[in-house]
Amino acid sequence: MSQRSTRKEEHLALTQMFFNAEKSNSFDQVHLLRPALPETAVDRSLLQTNWFGKPLSAPFFINAMTGGSEKSKQVNKALGYVAGKAKLAMALGSASILTKEADQLDSFYVARAENPDGLLFANVNPLTPADSVKEIVKELAADALQIHLNVAQEIAMPEGDRDFRWLERLKEIRDAVDVPIVIKEVGSGLDPISIRQLQAAGFDWFDIGGAGGTNFSQIENSRRSSQLPYLNDLGLSTALAALLARPLTDKLIVSGGVRNALDVFKGLALGGKFVGVANCFLHFLLQHDQEALYLEVESWKDQLAGLLALYGQTDLEHVQVPVYFDSELKNYYEQLKQL
Ligand SMILES: Cc1cc2nc3c(=O)[nH]c(=O)nc-3n(C[C@H](O)[C@H](O)[C@H](O)COP(=O)(O)O)c2cc1C
Repeated sequence: MSQRSTRKEEHLALTQMFFNAEKSNSFDQVHLLRPALPETAVDRSLLQTNWFGKPLSAPFFINAMTGGSEKSKQVNKALGYVAGKAKLAMALGSASILTKEADQLDSFYVARAENPDGLLFANVNPLTPADSVKEIVKELAADALQIHLNVAQEIAMPEGDRDFRWLERLKEIRDAVDVPIVIKEVGSGLDPISIRQLQAAGFDWFDIGGAGGTNFSQIENSRRSSQLPYLNDLGLSTALAALLARPLTDKLIVSGGVRNALDVFKGLALGGKFVGVANCFLHFLLQHDQEALYLEVESWKDQLAGLLALYGQTDLEHVQVPVYFDSELKNYYEQLKQL
């Protein structure tokens, strides 16, 4: 196995080792005001939506995880099956490996083969040559593209990149591809200053990928001989990142540490048009099987429809629930909101 494929397999294993469904995160600092008289009825059809022209059964999706190794091929096949059957959008893991190892294409394409009509995102790093990205999008028949920003992960990774002058590269990719682009973080949070810079450069969709769930600094640290533990706590939490991003854009995706249907609902209440779920679904899949994950996704939809009714909401596009916060989150937000 190549060094890159080995790393993909290590990520799969280490993300499971560190996964903790009970761990508290910033969603717990967000509270929603519930009307005693909501005047609603539970209706699953209210969850239906569409994104980039594709119909979807729910506003949450399977976020970018894997591809580029044998084990990740099995995972992508299963996730593709679930995305297709449940009509969820799905993002593949970074396909930048294909510029060096073209024979790994199938480890990504299996997800498209399982779900020929669904909304599928390809995913690359900002340093992938623009013409290769164009090729990747075509080969995977991707409807849209995620480009991930993962500076904290690279710094923690012994073999990681050390040059983060990425904006021009991002623009080159944007000029080369003709599908919509989402700029995402990978669990350390997109800050408002970077969002503004990216908007000025013409990008419009942002996945804040906040801290509170999968922590790649921690994962890369565990692969190092001498650890840099202070890197583990540098992330901007998902709730704080969402609060800061919300005034800047309505093309907002909330993700990072989503553990259940209530977190999805809070993500929508914080301004997310869509909510991304990564390791929570992967962990469930690896503990069970694809059919069980499909049923779990269906159960999340039932629960989300219940939450919409409970909180008096009838329009998924405009979730408007009064939100209040624990003092720590409020305090952080007050300090940063003028940025
Ligand atoms: C095993 C694994 C591999 C991942 N690989 C990628 C990747 O290749 N590209 C990317 O943009 N994000 C990647 N991510 C990050 C997720 O898309 C997401 O931003 C992050 O895990 C936070 O969400 P979570 O807390 O729901 O896991 C990966 C996550 C996991 C668990």
